[in-house]
Amino acid sequence: MTPLERTALGLERLLGPSTAVTDPALCEGYARDESETDTVTPACVVRARSADDVRATLRLANAHDTPVFARGAGTGRTGGAAVTEPGVVIDTTAMNQVVALSRTEQRVIVEPGLVTAALQALVEAEGLFFPPDPQSAAWSTLGGNVAENAAGPRAYKYGPTRNYVLGLDAVSGDGTLVSHGRMTRKGVTGYDTTALLVGSEGTLAVFTRLTLALTALRPAVTGLWALFGHTHDAARAVTALTARGLDVRCIEFFDGHCCRVIDRADPALGWARTEAALVIECDGGDPEAVARTREAVGALCVEHRAREVLVAESVDEREALWAVRKTMSRALRALRRFKLSEDVVVPVGALEALLDAVAEIAAREGLTMPTYGHAGDGNLHVNLLWDDPAERPAVERAVASLFRATLDLGGTLSGEHGVGVLKAPFLGWEQGDALIALQRGLKAVFDPRGVLNPGKIFARPSHRGC
Ligand code: LAC
Ligand code: ZN
Repeated sequence: MTPLERTALGLERLLGPSTAVTDPALCEGYARDESETDTVTPACVVRARSADDVRATLRLANAHDTPVFARGAGTGRTGGAAVTEPGVVIDTTAMNQVVALSRTEQRVIVEPGLVTAALQALVEAEGLFFPPDPQSAAWSTLGGNVAENAAGPRAYKYGPTRNYVLGLDAVSGDGTLVSHGRMTRKGVTGYDTTALLVGSEGTLAVFTRLTLALTALRPAVTGLWALFGHTHDAARAVTALTARGLDVRCIEFFDGHCCRVIDRADPALGWARTEAALVIECDGGDPEAVARTREAVGALCVEHRAREVLVAESVDEREALWAVRKTMSRALRALRRFKLSEDVVVPVGALEALLDAVAEIAAREGLTMPTYGHAGDGNLHVNLLWDDPAERPAVERAVASLFRATLDLGGTLSGEHGVGVLKAPFLGWEQGDALIALQRGLKAVFDPRGVLNPGKIFARPSHRGC
C-alpha cells in the first residue's frame, strides 16, 4: 500500500466513510477550483465537521507525508484550492455555523464554511455591515476569503478581508490547533500571526473558526455610471476622483469589451456604444450628503469627457447593474474556448499607462484582452481570451509582458486572487531572494513536513505550471 493509500484508509477508519469519502466519482468533484489549473483526483475528501476532524486529518497526513488541500467553495482564480498532486482534500463547507454575533462589539464569530453572502445578509438584518464583497460572495466561503485575502469593489473605501479579521483558530500543518489574534478591536501582543495567516492561501494552516470585525450599516447608498468614449478619459477621471478624496465606496472600471458584455446582457442599462465606463457608488448615514457627493462625482466625470452620466438611484437600478457585473468573469469565459484571468495592481496614477500597456500587448500578440476591475485601488482584472491551442505561446508571452509592465509601473502581481499555482513561477519577479527565503522559513515553522498545499505560492521544481 502506498503512503497515500494508508492515509486514505486511516482517515476512513478514524472518521467514518461519510466524513472521509474515498469514492473516486465523488472525490473527482473536489479536484478543481475556477482557475483551470491541471488537477488530479484526490484519494480522499474529508468533509470536516469540527476542528477535531481537521486535526485528525493533518496528523495522519504528517505521519505519511501526504499532501493536504483545504477548500471552501472552490471559487478561487489562481489554483489555491486545486489538487495539483495526489493527496487528500479537507472540505470545510459543512463547518458553516454562526457561533456568536455581538452588536455591542460589532463582531461575529463564524465557522470557515459559512457562505459570505449569508453572513452579509445576517449582519445587515441587525444593522451591521461586513464590507468585503468578492464578486463570488453568493458562493464563496469566509474561510476561502480569508485564505486569499479576498476583496472586491467596496475595498476602495473599506479595505480587503484582512482588515476585518480580529483572530482565528487554525490547525497548523503539523496538526496543532492554535488560537491566533484576539476578540477585541485593538491589540498589540506578540507578532500579528493572524495577519500572516490571512492571504496565506492554505499553505500554513487550516482555519476552524474566524472572529470578524463588523461596522455599522450605512443605510444611504447611491451610485452613478459614467460612460466614456475612450479609456484614457475614464482612467484620468479615476485619478482625479482619488486625488479629490471624495467619499466613494467603489470606483469600478470596464473597457470597451466589457461594456459590450454588459450591454448584451442587459440592453436596458443603456451601455451601447461605450468604449469605457466607471461605476461609482457612495454610501453613508445621510441620504442628502451622499447625494451631494454623487453630484460632485458626476460633475468630475463630465469634466473628464464622460459622454453620459446615468444616476443609479434606486436599489433596483443598482442591483440590475451588479447582477451583470457579478457574472462578468463567467460571461467573458463564455466568449472563447480558453480564458486566463489576471489580477494586477498598479499605483492608481499608473492606471492609464497600464491600460496602454494592455492595449499594446493585445495588439502585438493578436489576442483579445478584456479588462475591468477595481480601478480606485489600481487593481485590474486583465483577461486573455483565445480559441486555438496554438495561440498558447502568444498568451504566455502576453502574460509575461503584462507582469513586466505591472512591475515596471511599481505594481504587484495580485490584488485579491493570490499567487496560487498560476503565478508561483513569477514570485521571484516581484520579490527578492531574501524575502522569499524568509517566507519559506515561516512555512517550515507552521508546516515542517510541507504537507499543506504544496506547490502553491512557491513553485515546486517538479510542477509543470499551466
Ligand atoms: C471580479 C473577480 C474576478 O472582480 O475578482 O469579478
Ligand atoms: Zn475582483
